[in-house]
Amino acid sequence: MASKALFFFALLSLLAVSLIRTASANNEEDPGLVMQFYKDSCPQAEDIIREQVRLLYKRHKNTAFSWLRNIFHDCAVESCDASLLLDSTRRSLSEKETDRSFGLRNFRYLDTIKEAVERECPGVVSCADILVLSARDGIVAVGGPYIPLKTGRRDGRKSRAEVLEQYLPDHNESISVVLERFGAMGIDTPGVVALLGAHSVGRTHCVKLVHRLYPEVDPALNPGHVEHMLYKCPDAIPDPKAVQYVRNDRGTPMKLDNNYYRNILDNKGLLIVDHQLATDKRTKPYVKKMAKSQDYFFKEFSRAITILSENNPLTGTKGEIRKQCNVANKLH
Ligand code: HEM
Ligand SMILES: *[C@@H]1O[C@H](CO)[C@@H](O)[C@H](O)[C@H]1NC(C)=O
Repeated sequence: MASKALFFFALLSLLAVSLIRTASANNEEDPGLVMQFYKDSCPQAEDIIREQVRLLYKRHKNTAFSWLRNIFHDCAVESCDASLLLDSTRRSLSEKETDRSFGLRNFRYLDTIKEAVERECPGVVSCADILVLSARDGIVAVGGPYIPLKTGRRDGRKSRAEVLEQYLPDHNESISVVLERFGAMGIDTPGVVALLGAHSVGRTHCVKLVHRLYPEVDPALNPGHVEHMLYKCPDAIPDPKAVQYVRNDRGTPMKLDNNYYRNILDNKGLLIVDHQLATDKRTKPYVKKMAKSQDYFFKEFSRAITILSENNPLTGTKGEIRKQCNVANKLH
């Protein structure tokens, strides 16, 4: 009897030990997102990315705008998994080619960053992390805050083009829908107001604006600004080959600063969402506060970028480390 009990006890403890072992092994495989994920596997990774972002910015200032816009277009669509970067295949349309992605640019320079990282540590650093870290360093390049961000994201294998419109609001979306979509990621109202401050840099093409100018001018627009917009966008149907656009912030077009909030309060917001952010009673108080305080804007912006960058990542053994950011690895 006693020996039988002992036998069962031994069996049970063996089981417990092996259970604990697999649990900790799983933990070792998947710590989730952490600070300095590559500190042992590729200690230079973050420095290489920072240096590449800096060099590219010296040659092409607008690369930084792209890195900032990319984090929204990748992370807000289900997961920060670099699905945005995949090219179309015979079977699927790329996210880059959808209407919401209009104007996204500089992807070949993201490949430049990836190649530099691959030269040092082949097959180690994900495109998803490179996309997020380039955004962090791009934000600093345009005068924004330094935001410490975690790493350990892995790359998805497929385009999310067919669901993209359920996540990315259109240029004329209502504030209710915008708040709802960001809310689903855990980003609150001041967070949304701060993120839209990204429209303090870069440009908007006439195709996204002409409905506010033709057949008649949107009376909500500042008349002084209308003059400039009509000058930049002289045709109701812009020539798709001509690159016609208006700068998002005429005052400080190259700087991420709170001038965006003064612009939208002055009815100089280019997109309907920008304009409504300054008029909707839920968002207006934060717009006013950010227009007054750059510190408050940066604080909320940093908080919201952090949440956005941690949206539903693939970690551990999920996904893969892509060799090239524009194509999924071949399955063996
Ligand atoms: C309601 C949400 C948003 C809408 C509807 C929206 C829409 C747009 C549109 C239509 C453009 C112009 C594209 C072009 O004509 O080339 C644009 C540009 C831009 N957006 Fe957004 N956006 C939103 C949120 C965001 C967020 C959250 C970020 C980043 C955190 C962001 C960053 C940018 C940047 C940096 C540009 C300028 C890009 C360049 O000059 O290449 N946007 N956005
Ligand atoms: C928003 O603009 C698009 C064209 O870009 C148009 O097809 C759509 O009907 C507009 N939606 C609203 C709600 O006005």
